[in-house]
Amino acid sequence: MTDSLARAIADAESRLAAFHRLIAGISYQRKGILNSEMFFLWLCAETVQPKRVLESGRAQGQSTLILARCFPHAEIVSVEHDRNSPDAAIAAERLKNEANVKLLFGDATHMLRDLARPGDIALIDGPKGLRGLRFALSLLGTGKIPQVFVHDAGPGTAERRFFDRWLPSVRYSDEPDLVRNSHVLDDEGAASMPSARRFATCAGRSGYGYGLACLPYAPDIRYGWLRWRAALAGLSQRPSPEVTAP
Ligand SMILES: C[S@@+](CC[C@H](N)C(=O)[O-])C[C@H]1O[C@@H](n2cnc3c(N)ncnc32)[C@H](O)[C@@H]1O
Repeated sequence: MTDSLARAIADAESRLAAFHRLIAGISYQRKGILNSEMFFLWLCAETVQPKRVLESGRAQGQSTLILARCFPHAEIVSVEHDRNSPDAAIAAERLKNEANVKLLFGDATHMLRDLARPGDIALIDGPKGLRGLRFALSLLGTGKIPQVFVHDAGPGTAERRFFDRWLPSVRYSDEPDLVRNSHVLDDEGAASMPSARRFATCAGRSGYGYGLACLPYAPDIRYGWLRWRAALAGLSQRPSPEVTAP
């Protein structure tokens, strides 16, 4: 799978216009995953042709709406924990005409393992940090999900350090060769991005945007053991730099 992922990412420039057409007319909503990150997800996910996308953390539904448009033949199952947030109504209104979206409320860390079916992919944008990372490993450990995406895993975060050490096959939306083309998708969203993160790659430094990681499933990885390592990392965690959306 890592070969097909590498080919898809290397081919990003030729896919940019098609993605642009898919998201035409969608405005950027505060707290949302950036278009460049969703472009990365789409490129990666096309290699496994998911029938369903499981989403953890919907807020105002920016990522949910883009998933709905980018995967018109898949079902988008979106789980949000906070049903009392004003975001819930905003998301419901925004997504009311998307026939392939199912909106659920609850703790996704409990719900999605049971909901997962072979061939689903998952996007985790809450819970954050090492809790989100342990959740990702637990989904991969089911052996049903070929790709799990973890948001806010930019350079300098505890999650990125963990991936660098234990999961070298992870790919990132902020890889310089990718960002060189994909940053143009973020004209609107970049205004709410911390300035230190904005176009950092273009200035020759690593890091861009909030950072979406793609964790491809591999049968030889012991995900239960990695969850234990992640729990240990949590005990000795240094605070991550502020890279989450406002
Ligand atoms: C940054 S927001 C999501 C933004 C959204 N993905 C977008 O692009 O518009 C994070 C959301 O995750 C939710 N969340 C946190 N923990 C969760 C959990 N265990 N299950 C489901 N949702 C959770 C929070 O309530 C919050 O609304």
